[in-house]
Amino acid sequence: MPRGISILVSSLMILYSVCGYDLENGGKIWALLVAGSNDYYNYRHQADVCHAYQILHKNGIPDENIIVMMYDDIAYNEENPTKGIIINQPNGSDVYGGVLKDYTGQFVNSTNFLKVLTGDARGMKGIGSGRVIKSGPNDHVFVNFVDHGAPGLLAFPSDELYADDLIKALKQMADKKQFAQLVFYVEACESGSMFDSLLPDDLNIFAVTAADPNESSYACYYDSTRQTYLGDVFSVMWMQDSEKENLLRETLHHQFAIVRTETNTSHVEEYGDLDVGSMHVSDFLGFHTSRNSISFTANLPSVADSVPSHHVPVAILERKLEATVDPKEKHEIKFQLHRVLKYRRHMENVVTKVLMLATGNDESKVQELKVNRYKLRLENFRCYKKLVTAFSEKCFKLSDNPHAFRQLYILANVCGHRKVGTRSIMNAITKVCSAHPRLHGII
Ligand SMILES: *[C@@H]1O[C@H](CO)[C@@H](O)[C@H](O)[C@H]1NC(C)=O
Ligand SMILES: *[C@@H]1O[C@H](CO)[C@@H](O)[C@H](O)[C@H]1NC(C)=O
Ligand SMILES: *[C@@H]1O[C@H](CO)[C@@H](O)[C@H](O)[C@H]1NC(C)=O
Ligand SMILES: *[C@@H]1O[C@H](CO)[C@@H](O)[C@H](O)[C@H]1NC(C)=O
Repeated sequence: MPRGISILVSSLMILYSVCGYDLENGGKIWALLVAGSNDYYNYRHQADVCHAYQILHKNGIPDENIIVMMYDDIAYNEENPTKGIIINQPNGSDVYGGVLKDYTGQFVNSTNFLKVLTGDARGMKGIGSGRVIKSGPNDHVFVNFVDHGAPGLLAFPSDELYADDLIKALKQMADKKQFAQLVFYVEACESGSMFDSLLPDDLNIFAVTAADPNESSYACYYDSTRQTYLGDVFSVMWMQDSEKENLLRETLHHQFAIVRTETNTSHVEEYGDLDVGSMHVSDFLGFHTSRNSISFTANLPSVADSVPSHHVPVAILERKLEATVDPKEKHEIKFQLHRVLKYRRHMENVVTKVLMLATGNDESKVQELKVNRYKLRLENFRCYKKLVTAFSEKCFKLSDNPHAFRQLYILANVCGHRKVGTRSIMNAITKVCSAHPRLHGII
C-alpha cells in the first residue's frame, strides 16, 4: 500500500488500541454468538461458535461486549476423545478454551435469545449470566447464529425461533435505536427464508445467510478420530476470510463476495440494507493488529468432503462403518444405519399419509405441495407455527429429528399457498400420528 495510507492505517490502529474498542462514531461493538443445537453429532455448530468467539476476542472486542449461548455438551462429551478440547478444522487448535458461557443447557432457547438480543435485562434476571446486549444508538451489533433450520425458522435445542418473531424483535430494536447498524450471519439450512421478503431494507440491518430460502447448508471436515464433522462450509469460509484479510480495509460486501464464491455447496445470500455492506468488517468483528500488511496464505484443507447438514447422522455412520474392521462393530453400525434410513422413510410416508388424508386422496394436490416451495409471508406464520407445533408434538419431535426439518417446507407450502385448509391438515396430523406410536431419539 502507498506509504501515506500505510502511516494513516498504523496511526488509526494506535488510536484504536489506545481507546480500547471505540468506533469512529464513539460507539462500541456488541456481539451475540449462538449455537442452537446439542448432541455430539452436531459438534460442528458449537465448534463454529467457539471459533467465532476466539476471532472476536483476538480482534480486541472485550468480553463485556460479547455474549455466548451454547449448550456446552461437546467439550466433555463422553464421545469426545480429546476432553476439554474442541477444534473447528482438521488438526486445528483448540477453540474452546476461554469461551464465555453466558447461557448453556436449557437456557439456550428462543425466548432467551430474543430477550438477550433486545437488551431485556429484567427478563433475563436469574437466568444464566443474566447479561444482555446493552447497545445504544451509536453501537454496532454482530449476531452469529449456527444450527439447523427450515423454512422460516431456526432451531434451538428444545424449541424454535420463527422468522416473524425475529423480524419483529429487529424492528423493535431499530425503533428504540438500539444500534447504528446490525449485521447478522446465519449458518442453517434454508437460512435465507429467515429474511427473504421479510427483512425491510431501511433498518440498517445487513444479513448474510449460508443458504438460499430453500436449500440445505453443508457440514464439512469429517474428523476420523473424533468421528464427527468439525465445521460448516459457510462458517469455515467467513471465519477463514476474517483471519486472513486486513479487516480494516475489507468491506462486508467484499467478504460476502469471497465467501459466496468459496461456498460452492449452497448459495450464500445477502438481505436487508445492502448499503451497510460498504462498511468495513472491522466495524463489526474488530481487527487484529499483527495481521496488518502480512500476506497470510492459509493452507486449509479443502472442504470437498462436505455433506448436506441433514445427511450428517447418516454420513457419520457410513464413515464409521468404513473405518471399522471388527465384524461385531460393523454389524452393529449396519443395524443402526438401517434403522435410521428406515425411520426416515417412515417419516416421509407419514407426511404423505397426512397430505392424502387432508386432501381427500387428491394426488395432484399432494404432489403440488411436495414439489413446490412457496414463500412464507408474515401473515402465514400463525398457520405455520400451529402446524409445525402439532407435527413436532404429535408426529416427530423436531429437536430429536434433524430429518423432520426437511419435511417442514411442505407445511410451509400449506400455509403459504392455501391449497388445503389448515383445519384439515391439523385433523390429519392428529389422526395419522396417533395411529403411529411416536418414536424417540432416532435420527
Ligand atoms: C494432521 O496431522 C497429522 C500429523 O501431524 C498428519 O499426518 C495429517 O496429514 C494432518 N491432517 C490434515 C488434514 O492436515
Ligand atoms: C427458556 O428458558 C427460560 C428460563 O429457563 C424459561 O423461562 C422459558 O420458558 C424457556 N422458553 C422456552 C421456549 O422453552
Ligand atoms: C467445491 O470446491 C471444492 C474445491 O474447493 C471441490 O473439491 C468440490 O468438488 C466443489 N463442490 C461442488 C459441489 O462443486
Ligand atoms: C428456490 O429459491 C430460489 C430463490 O428464492 C428460486 O429461484 C428457486 O426456483 C427455488 N427452487 C424451488 C425448487 O422452488
